[in-house]
Amino acid sequence: MSQISPHYSSWRGAGSWVLSAILVLIVSSVFFLAGCQSEKKTETQATKALTSEELVKRGEYMVTVGGCNDCHTPLKTGPNGPEPDMSRMLSGHPEILVMPPPPKLPQGPWGWIGAATTTAFAGPWGISYTANLTPDSSTGLGLWKEEMFVNAMKTGKHMGIGRPIMPPIPWQGIGRMKDEDLKAVFAYLRTIPAIKNHVPAVVLPVVASK
Ligand code: HEC
Repeated sequence: MSQISPHYSSWRGAGSWVLSAILVLIVSSVFFLAGCQSEKKTETQATKALTSEELVKRGEYMVTVGGCNDCHTPLKTGPNGPEPDMSRMLSGHPEILVMPPPPKLPQGPWGWIGAATTTAFAGPWGISYTANLTPDSSTGLGLWKEEMFVNAMKTGKHMGIGRPIMPPIPWQGIGRMKDEDLKAVFAYLRTIPAIKNHVPAVVLPVVASK
């Protein structure tokens, strides 16, 4: 009978240890890779699954819960009080409503004021009028590219590159939407009725000269 030397048997013990450790490593990396693969799969499946119709539906939902109408659709007085004038849906401050100079606020905690339509605002930033978000090509977002819209909302700059977008639009929050959701919002805005309405330009505050 051949005798296994104590030296060899201890090596064999250590060897099986190393072997099982390697096996565990291989098995866990296979599971890890499989996990990554399936995540990738569900991601692409989710993106692929959205037809353009579903994208528009999602955009409509985001616009509704995102409160865009609160400022971009003027309020009118209805039988039960102020209500959004949906015949002017998302078309911004009505150009026919020429606002007089804003009243001067007294010193104190009141910081800014808004028009009864909730489409014009005056504060330390000047006077801002809500934009026409309909696809009208000369007064709305008709000529905008999806990229401009996404960048404007993410950077707070006009069309994503220009002057700062003035309050009170909560672009800091809107810009936190996922790109897919911002794109869905833009896709929806493309489908709403185009309304020709030229919104007045922002008025910057007059800085008193010394
Ligand atoms: C609290 C009021 C308010 C809300 C709510 C609001 N906006 Fe605005 N928005 C404004 C004002 C005011 C401006 C014009 C700012 C300016 O001219 O600097 C504006 C401008 C814009 C512009 C033009 C930006 C540019 O580059 O000039 C876009 C696009 C826009 N809003 C999209 C949206 C969308 C989409 C929502 C909803 C998710 C929304 N807004 C919600 C007030 C609001």
